[in-house]
Amino acid sequence: MKCVKMLVLAMFASSVAIIVGGAEVKGMPPCSFPAIFNFGDSNSDTGAYSAALGASRLPDGKTFFGKPAGRASDGRLIIDFMAEQLGLPYLSSYLNSLGTNYSHGVNFAVGGATIRRMNDQPIPFYLGIQTTQYDQFKARVTNLYNQGKNTSRLPRLEHFSKALYTIDIGQNDAVRAMFLHNSQEQIPDMLNQFAQAVHHLYKQGGRAFWIHNMGPIGCLPINQNFINRTEESFDQNGCTNRWNAMTLEYNKQLKDKVIKLRRELPQAAITYVDVYTVKYGLIRNAKNLGFTDPMKICCGIYENGVYVQCGKKENINGKEVYAGSCENPSTYISWDGIHHTEAANYWIANRIINGSLSDPPIPITRACHK
Ligand SMILES: *[C@@H]1O[C@H](CO)[C@@H](O)[C@H](O)[C@H]1NC(C)=O
Ligand SMILES: *[C@@H]1O[C@H](CO)[C@@H](O)[C@H](O)[C@H]1NC(C)=O
Ligand SMILES: *[C@@H]1O[C@H](CO)[C@@H](O)[C@H](O)[C@H]1NC(C)=O
Ligand SMILES: *[C@@H]1O[C@H](CO)[C@@H](O)[C@H](O)[C@H]1NC(C)=O
Repeated sequence: MKCVKMLVLAMFASSVAIIVGGAEVKGMPPCSFPAIFNFGDSNSDTGAYSAALGASRLPDGKTFFGKPAGRASDGRLIIDFMAEQLGLPYLSSYLNSLGTNYSHGVNFAVGGATIRRMNDQPIPFYLGIQTTQYDQFKARVTNLYNQGKNTSRLPRLEHFSKALYTIDIGQNDAVRAMFLHNSQEQIPDMLNQFAQAVHHLYKQGGRAFWIHNMGPIGCLPINQNFINRTEESFDQNGCTNRWNAMTLEYNKQLKDKVIKLRRELPQAAITYVDVYTVKYGLIRNAKNLGFTDPMKICCGIYENGVYVQCGKKENINGKEVYAGSCENPSTYISWDGIHHTEAANYWIANRIINGSLSDPPIPITRACHK
């Protein structure tokens, strides 16, 4: 009897083993991540820039939230879809002082943030500061538990070691390097500081890391307005070759760094996620997927050398120009020239979370396994 039961169990277990990227995720139960701690820039900022540096305004947020929601998009970001997939609420920003609830994680990402400290950069929240804020958050939560305070909006202490640590940063360093220095020579320094942040979080107890590589910055419509077009060459999708070469070199070195980190941090499960390939695939197949020209911007106007940011007004040749939203954001890939629409984020997130473009190729729900 017992034997039969075990056999049935074994058969059941093998039938639920899922196939991912050709590799069988056998004996890999879901991780039940209780929280997400996210670090990054505007690609995953859910309210920091808006709270600290300038309130977000419509039409940002109009599609999903029906109001500005501290996100540079008409709706949800990739990090929001990741949270949904893990059955967790959307992350409150660490810098937000109203209406926050950190019981299932914290978002330390800030729009404009770089990996490295930049002395001439108006956004002070580089990656090292974000991890310092994490330390402070953890210490204060611990303190509040010790004092028996009401912790109903805070994570449990064991969440710090069981959480998924997600990082999506580097794009602002790269764009600056391209405009200011025109070179790839800063990549090793960027990645050394990136690795330091991972070491730091590991020391604090983090074990599962989910690392996004850099998207194709050569395909950002806004940058196309500010480059010297006679000096650049473009691929068949209209993306700047030299800029994407920078991204690809960065991603190659990031992948090497991740391999090194796995050796240095033996208890860490580090997933490297090839966001570049997903985003570039979307741009390349835009038409087949029902999207309009990927170089077109839904919200934001470039006219006579003046760029009017989404939701803003500028005077161009004595005429007031307001940059409102296009009629149907769901047909656009680019929301504001830098960031994606919710429709694009949804498409990208769907290809990221099942692990088909990750190394190792396991879905986000199982990213605690090596
Ligand atoms: C992942 O999801 C995408 C989009 O739904 C799909 O095309 C792809 O085949 C999936 N890959 C795996 C390995 O499940
Ligand atoms: C803690 O605070 C929440 C609201 O912030 C409240 O609903 C709850 O009753 C409080 N719990 C205790 C034990 O005071
Ligand atoms: C915080 O969010 C969690 C998860 O959504 C919820 O269960 C909890 O009640 C919230 N806490 C407060 C005080 O609103
Ligand atoms: C763009 O590059 C070309 C070729 O190097 C140069 O002649 C031209 O002056 C540049 N234009 C601007 C606006 O810098």
